[in-house]
Amino acid sequence: MTRLVIVSNRVSKPRETRAGGLASALNSALNEHGGLWFGWSGNVVSDVPAGVSRERIGEIDYALTDLSESEYSTYYQGFSNRTLWPLLHYRPDLLDFRRENLSGYRAVNRRFAELLAPQLRSDDTIWVHDYHLIPLGQELRALGIKARIGFFLHVPFPSPEVLMMLPGHRPLLKTLCAYDLVGTQTDSDQRALCEYSGREWGATCDDSGMVSLSDGHRFRCMAFPISIDPGLISRNADLARTSKAHRSLVDSLSGRELAISVDRLDYSKGLPERFEAFAHFLDSYPQHRGQLSMMQIAPVTRGDVPEYQELRARLEQLAGAINGRYAEPDWMPIRYINRSFHQANLAGFYRSARVGLVTPLRDGMNLVAKEYVAAQSAEDPGVLVLSRFAGAARELTDALLVNPYDADDTSNAIHAALEMPIEERRRRWQAMSAHLRQHTIVDWRESFLDVLLDS
Ligand code: UDP
Ligand code: G6P
Repeated sequence: MTRLVIVSNRVSKPRETRAGGLASALNSALNEHGGLWFGWSGNVVSDVPAGVSRERIGEIDYALTDLSESEYSTYYQGFSNRTLWPLLHYRPDLLDFRRENLSGYRAVNRRFAELLAPQLRSDDTIWVHDYHLIPLGQELRALGIKARIGFFLHVPFPSPEVLMMLPGHRPLLKTLCAYDLVGTQTDSDQRALCEYSGREWGATCDDSGMVSLSDGHRFRCMAFPISIDPGLISRNADLARTSKAHRSLVDSLSGRELAISVDRLDYSKGLPERFEAFAHFLDSYPQHRGQLSMMQIAPVTRGDVPEYQELRARLEQLAGAINGRYAEPDWMPIRYINRSFHQANLAGFYRSARVGLVTPLRDGMNLVAKEYVAAQSAEDPGVLVLSRFAGAARELTDALLVNPYDADDTSNAIHAALEMPIEERRRRWQAMSAHLRQHTIVDWRESFLDVLLDS
């Protein structure tokens, strides 16, 4: 059997509380399978030590490197999070392009390849993850690495019209051709990549996702929707019922209903629109005032990037204004929390919420939506209100699907969720739960690797 080598910017060790879909998913995917996980240590230092630091935990060997201050600023904060992230999430208005950041990005990808290459064995299968590391495959090829190399994009692949706003998009994206397989979250991401390859490279893309360039070079591109371990989340939700955190949440509700939202504090997640929609709901359905609280868990992420700081200030203002306007001495409409929680605690919180409110403006997949469904009980399941613009909406079609830009739509869906008869709640939940049990994170890993090894 070949060894699996995972490469990602963000690396997470077992039992770390790390908000982010990539870390959650790769942790579950590697857990039993084992392998080497190469990436950033999370440390920023003035002098980066030569070589990698190695550590083995369970079945996983970690090989990590620090980033220098200038690498952190150009590669991570700059090009990854102020250029690629907004563009890939359809926010060209937030695009901040600087050539020195692009150079820093390319240089870190080269350095990662140079550090990884000596760690590799000839029978390894290499799987690179996400937008931070698009050129890594090509850098490894330049160093003579012949192994199979796959790439998975956790975020949307936007329409070519949007992507073409990026200066230098063509040489950057051309590096994708160095992979044997490029995986996307949804069919529509895959189609956008095929369309881009036709327009920019003159390539053809057949029904099996084979992209053929005019010089005869070929690689495959296919959708592999990422998922969760639904059994584990359901067991965690069962266990959490006896935990202190869960009991004190339930006690604090005094029999009232809860709507839950869990997101990194990111502008792609539609938090201001959600807060506004919740206020609109309290205006439109005043009978629910004092009856439903919304709990927004929003751990701070990329907190030194200006767009994230502005969002945080705006949310503090909004949450304060809405609470000030609607609160009663014994009831607060919005519980707004900036810390992160362990997934086992989240499972208990999901279980106690009648409504899961997941309304990103754009999201590659959104694992929270899947986790919320997996945590419900068969007897008394809650209702998922889900944005049409999350990748998860393509699979969780029995959720109440909404347009997050439309406060009426979201407000009506919250109302419908609260009024929904138990039979309908069970029917919708059963359909979504069956889907999740048939498409787990292990299936995701296996299907990607099967196609990669076959390519
Ligand atoms: N998460 C967590 N603790 C928190 C908040 C989030 O463990 O306090 C996890 C959550 O359970 C989920 C992931 O972070 O697995 C978020 O993934 P998602 O795909 O929803 O969004 P992303 O952050 O990747 O954009
Ligand atoms: C999203 C991205 C991941 C990233 C995560 C957390 O899920 O797709 O690549 O790891 O956000 O962001 P951070 O910048 O903290 O790694």
